[in-house]
Amino acid sequence: MEDKIIHPGQAALSGFNRTMEKELSHMPLRCIDCDKEVSISLLANEIVNKDRAGYIVYRENRMFVPQIENNTLSQKVDKLETTVDGVMIITGGTGELGRTIAKALASNGINKIVLFGKQNVPDEAEWDYIKTDSQDEKISQRYEDFLELKDKLEVFKVLPVNMSNENEVLEACEKVRSQYGPIIGVMHLAGNVGDGFIINKSRDVFDNVYQPKASGAWYMHKATLQDHLRWFISFSSIATLDIQPGQADYVAANMFLDALARYRKSINLPVCSIEWPAWREVGMAKRMNAVDEEELFIPVNTDEAIKLLMNILVMDDKMPAVIMPGKMKVVAPETKEISHKVWQEDENEVVLVGVQEPDEIELNIARIWANTLDMNQFDIEDDFNSLGGNSLLISQLLSEYEKVYPGQMEVADLFTYSTIGEQAQYLRQKGNPVQEVQVKKVKNDERNQNDSSKDEAIQKEQDLDEILELVASGKMTIEESALKVFLK
Ligand SMILES: NC(=O)c1ccc[n+]([C@@H]2O[C@H](COP(=O)([O-])OP(=O)(O)OC[C@H]3O[C@@H](n4cnc5c(N)ncnc54)[C@H](OP(=O)(O)O)[C@@H]3O)[C@@H](O)[C@H]2O)c1
Repeated sequence: MEDKIIHPGQAALSGFNRTMEKELSHMPLRCIDCDKEVSISLLANEIVNKDRAGYIVYRENRMFVPQIENNTLSQKVDKLETTVDGVMIITGGTGELGRTIAKALASNGINKIVLFGKQNVPDEAEWDYIKTDSQDEKISQRYEDFLELKDKLEVFKVLPVNMSNENEVLEACEKVRSQYGPIIGVMHLAGNVGDGFIINKSRDVFDNVYQPKASGAWYMHKATLQDHLRWFISFSSIATLDIQPGQADYVAANMFLDALARYRKSINLPVCSIEWPAWREVGMAKRMNAVDEEELFIPVNTDEAIKLLMNILVMDDKMPAVIMPGKMKVVAPETKEISHKVWQEDENEVVLVGVQEPDEIELNIARIWANTLDMNQFDIEDDFNSLGGNSLLISQLLSEYEKVYPGQMEVADLFTYSTIGEQAQYLRQKGNPVQEVQVKKVKNDERNQNDSSKDEAIQKEQDLDEILELVASGKMTIEESALKVFLK
């Protein structure tokens, strides 16, 4: 159904709430998105009905649950076309994906590119010197990319623009128009990594993630209404489909992008919001060590991502409002235990120091940490945060705990008890039976083959088409498939 009420801010709020539901799993939180027509009795019924999905939509007293639809790209191209006249603005263009995309566009017929970045960039005359002399490899690379783009393009500029500030966005767009030519497209990539659970998140931390991405998109939308754009592409994320604790700001901002895309589509403006899976080789996911090959949505290589992007760009007005390029993976739902890492025979044990004879709970927790942090030696008093445990890793830690001690650890507990010793003591107090964590690959024959026909149809790895068939035939909801993978 086409939604007549599209409110990007409300969509962001639903993203925030849905993340809160994951963070406070002991509280029965649900999110109901309704229009003004919804009757009080329907809402009251929803509130008492605990078995409903975590997120539902009411329109004209009818209930909907969002679903994913298959969309096979209509064209398969490697290149865009010959020459495109006009300027392409890439916000967040100074970042890793921004420069990668700019280089790809420069080889694909776009000959005027302006990058918007947050930081000031020195005068062009200094770029060569910085590239050669910087001790920081990432900075050298950034200026090497700028020089390559300057060589290739008819117009290449880098402007400092704080995307959280509407005036700066308006002025920058005006400068582009007046000095470099008509704006033909916008790629909105500005954004920062989300980090921190709502319970600990300050307004500044939230704004640092939410404002450049969500408000920045809105400001770009308004600032370019006068231009005859061919493209308005925003870089959203699969974080909106696979909501993880600790990502409330990031999920909210990406949900805003997706809803803004639906809104633009509804008023016949060009748009596509791309819900990217993690990029393996460059970008924030790689920098944060957050490329997880076992993720529900399979990470993409750069070449593959660029091809997907080109295929989206050539669709022009047939571009879907929101698309998740790439593939989705489903793991056999009966699998009781899936180790996160496959350990070699000779290094399959974890070393725990700081305690004379660790008991089985302490060793289990060390293995759980090892599966999460990609390390195999810990001190019993090591603090998870001081070992680089950001919120993404805390969610991973929580899901590793779920496999062995289901329902015993909450996010808040992981903050209260942050060392192996404290977590072990906490579990002991709860009277947990001792049971060894397997840090090994699950064998196929350990899986239960005799479940319902729905489950039998699911193989270890299926691509999007297969799971969509199950979803489309009503045999499985998208939430069900995600739950099967993550809440075993
Ligand atoms: N990398 C991935 O795997 C992945 C996956 C899904 C979605 N995405 C999305 O793709 C986009 C680009 O990601 P990336 O990996 O290239 O990240 P990145 O390397 O961290 O680049 C982020 C860019 O955003 C800019 N920025 C941050 N705050 C800003 C502000 N207030 N005003 C203006 N610009 C601001 C940064 O400017 P400075 O360089 O000046 O600081 C930088 O250019 C992000 O929106 C991200 O959410 C990425």
